[in-house]
Amino acid sequence: MIVGPLTGRVVAQSPAAVLIVVSNPLDAMCNVAKNVSGWPKQRVFGMAGILDTARFSTFIAWKTGSSVKDVTAMVLGGHGDQMVPVVSATTVGGIPLRKLVGDQDIQAMVERTAKGGGEIVNLLGTSAWYAPGAAAAQMVDSIMLDEKRVLPCTAYLEGEYGIDGLYMGVPVKLGRDGIEEIVELDLGDDEQSALQASADAVREVVGVLTT
Ligand SMILES: NC(=O)c1ccc[n+]([C@@H]2O[C@H](COP(=O)([O-])OP(=O)(O)OC[C@H]3O[C@@H](n4cnc5c(N)ncnc54)[C@H](O)[C@@H]3O)[C@@H](O)[C@H]2O)c1
Repeated sequence: MIVGPLTGRVVAQSPAAVLIVVSNPLDAMCNVAKNVSGWPKQRVFGMAGILDTARFSTFIAWKTGSSVKDVTAMVLGGHGDQMVPVVSATTVGGIPLRKLVGDQDIQAMVERTAKGGGEIVNLLGTSAWYAPGAAAAQMVDSIMLDEKRVLPCTAYLEGEYGIDGLYMGVPVKLGRDGIEEIVELDLGDDEQSALQASADAVREVVGVLTT
């Protein structure tokens, strides 16, 4: 209703632009923007993973009594209840998270991250705006300044991570041309199956919106 017509107007005004989608349901809205624009996947993608990763990193910093600057984390998958924090690759000051925090506490932080958007809405009565804006600004900087940063973004997958024909949150290299590379991490078996479950949930939403 909104994203489709607006995408049409963006395409007419700025045919060479890079389109960063923020509207929810994010993964499905990226699909709408890609279909309406007809642009290559390198120039149509979404913002969610940086925000979700920032929330996860904050909870880890609080739990471990560390600076959030020393937390390295990555949240993948759909932007919803089935997002997938990659715990196996999460470190605090280089130390694996699993050496610092027990499974139960990690699980609680994963769940709070997945429900982070709802928590903010309950507190503010509206969705977050500062953190999503700051996350989108990081993506814009990486593109405009050709920084080639690797950031978790919602990208169109064609076989990467065993997922085909779907927008999902994955690490990508962002430069002048938009997505320059989809980075494939070595996931643990549990993380790979969680990503697959997340893909199934996204596919269902996309299916509802296209029928
Ligand atoms: N990707 C993320 O991580 C993330 C984070 C926060 C919010 N969001 C999403 O971003 C979207 C906006 O959230 P918000 O809190 O800024 O909402 P909001 O209600 O504050 O703002 C929506 C804006 O859209 C405008 N609008 C409504 N209909 C329009 C139309 N037909 N054409 C043009 N403009 C129209 C409204 O005037 C308003 O300014 C929501 O879909 C929300 O779920 C995503």
